[in-house]
Amino acid sequence: MRACVLTQEGLSVASVPDPQPAANHVVVAVRTAGLNRRDHWITVGKYPGVQLPVVLGSDGCGVMEAEGHALDGQRVVIDPSMSWDATTDTQGSDYQILGMPLQGTLAERIAVPAGNVHAAPRHCSDAEAAALPLAGITAWRATAKRAAVRSGQHVLVTGIGGGVATFAVQIAKAMGCKVWVTSSKTANLERAAQVLGTDGGALYTEADWAKQIQSQAGHIDAVIDGAGGPGFNNCLGIVRPGGTIAVYGATAGAVPTMNLHRVFWKHITIAGSTMGSPQDMADWLAFVNDHQIRPVVDSEYMLSNTAQAFARLASSEQFGNIIVRIAE
Ligand SMILES: NC(=O)c1ccc[n+]([C@@H]2O[C@H](COP(=O)([O-])OP(=O)(O)OC[C@H]3O[C@@H](n4cnc5c(N)ncnc54)[C@H](OP(=O)(O)O)[C@@H]3O)[C@@H](O)[C@H]2O)c1
Repeated sequence: MRACVLTQEGLSVASVPDPQPAANHVVVAVRTAGLNRRDHWITVGKYPGVQLPVVLGSDGCGVMEAEGHALDGQRVVIDPSMSWDATTDTQGSDYQILGMPLQGTLAERIAVPAGNVHAAPRHCSDAEAAALPLAGITAWRATAKRAAVRSGQHVLVTGIGGGVATFAVQIAKAMGCKVWVTSSKTANLERAAQVLGTDGGALYTEADWAKQIQSQAGHIDAVIDGAGGPGFNNCLGIVRPGGTIAVYGATAGAVPTMNLHRVFWKHITIAGSTMGSPQDMADWLAFVNDHQIRPVVDSEYMLSNTAQAFARLASSEQFGNIIVRIAE
């Protein structure tokens, strides 16, 4: 089969052996794969424990090929989260994500545990469905479970250019929240208002961005943050007393000097969040169906042009998800 393989020499589309499904695994003929920042970090050697060669890709939509399975012949999406620990409701010690070291979705076929395959939402195209899993489950757990946002609340989502942030806005809006966003680009703020219905925003490149959000929103009940860095102290400043900051990433690096006084004086809950459980995935897809959520697709590339898709990812110019079409 054809697949996008990362070796010491770089990325290429090559012929690799078909996957051999282990017990309790099923094969999916992949139609579309979604890219995530993780794929970029792996290609530039900045992801922990990179093992090469590897077929990249954590997200995928395709057709199930498993005789006797209830979803045989149907369009499915793949949960990339492997070995969640149900006792602690966190990643297990042998936790893995599809697409390194396990074979990823940028391939014509993939074998995964039968429990990791779910019916694709009917209202989503192949491209939209491929965008749902990794960024979606991360946003779902951070927003709905860890920050536990509720209807009527004021929510701030940082760095709207990111895939997780886009879903976090869609989730909070669908729940009936008012949502403000930050970005480095005016175009992203405008697009967020047009496409996602955000209630306002500010450029995090401006020193007084938190004041701008505060004056627009009045108060912020919850922050969904994937940036960290120096801006995290602004998040501590902007969230109301008793509010929550759900943290799922650190794109801007470590917080130089965290203002701990704000944390205890304001009774702030800082809730870390990574990926999600099998139940989170099921809940996320049910929410997608109930609210007819359609992921924002930034761009689509053919498998033969995967290098261009990775260049787009590296540029951080995207708004929404970058999709690779596996099947012509
Ligand atoms: N914990 C998990 O399970 C999990 C899952 C997925 C991703 N992540 C992590 O979450 C982060 C976001 O990933 P992603 O794939 O959604 O998006 P991404 O493609 O990495 O984009 C991140 C976005 O962050 C924004 N950003 C950059 N610097 C910022 C800053 N100083 N302050 C605020 N925003 C800033 C930019 O938005 P603008 O372009 O609008 O400026 C950028 O588009 C990454 O660090 C990723 O590794 C964690």
